[in-house]
Amino acid sequence: MTTKVVPGQLIAAPDSAQVAREAAARIARVLRAALARSGRASIALSGGNTPRDTYALLAQDTAVDWTKVHIFWVDERAVPPTDDRSNYRWAKATLLEIVGAPAENVHRMPADAPDLQAAARDYERDVVANVDREADGVPVFDVVVLGVGEDGHTASLFPGEATVDVVDRAVAAVPARDRREARLTLTAPPIERARAVIIIAVGLGKRDALERVWAAQGDVHETPARIIRGCRGVVTWIIDKAAGGLAE
Ligand code: 6PG
Repeated sequence: MTTKVVPGQLIAAPDSAQVAREAAARIARVLRAALARSGRASIALSGGNTPRDTYALLAQDTAVDWTKVHIFWVDERAVPPTDDRSNYRWAKATLLEIVGAPAENVHRMPADAPDLQAAARDYERDVVANVDREADGVPVFDVVVLGVGEDGHTASLFPGEATVDVVDRAVAAVPARDRREARLTLTAPPIERARAVIIIAVGLGKRDALERVWAAQGDVHETPARIIRGCRGVVTWIIDKAAGGLAE
């Protein structure tokens, strides 16, 4: 039995609906606290399937003043923003359109640009111009929403890719691999410095990856989601029983 160390708070909800309710409530709470503290807030959204229900419930929280929230992405696929695989498309449909986020607050990650390296640099400039920064220049988001892939990735930091080692940039381009399209992704530093990190994982398929993340020993190159162990902010894991290896 490997020793397990869950960095942060672990909320094991009975089912995916409760995961979405818990996640939406916590994201809204962090945003409201940031708005009360500084009059503005910043959030970075992951894509994939899991967070869609969370975003739809978050959109119902009328106590968040979205006119003062700057919305970014954790990662994006190299597809048009109307494509079914686009993280922007789904966040727009489940959250942004419902809350009426002002266009100037929506910072779409341009992974559909022809030159991904230039797009990464452009996006980093956009982040730096609109998000708090630490003395060393690393952006500090109020909240970063993450998922975990069955292969142990988070954001678009994939096993076997050098991207997980990038520490001198906040945004990086990820090459296409096999059937996976090229991506843009936040790198480890802005994820590690976020004031709050909320990780949402649902389903038995995520169980082994979470075990590898939570194992006391492990390799971040094999399980990039282990970067979460270095997060300095408030880390909250919101999972269902199946993902947590708990009895159904
Ligand atoms: C993406 C996401 C990615 C996601 C995991 C889990 O673009 O795919 O940002 O990091 O969080 O792949 O995805 P699911 O929620 O679909 O399992």
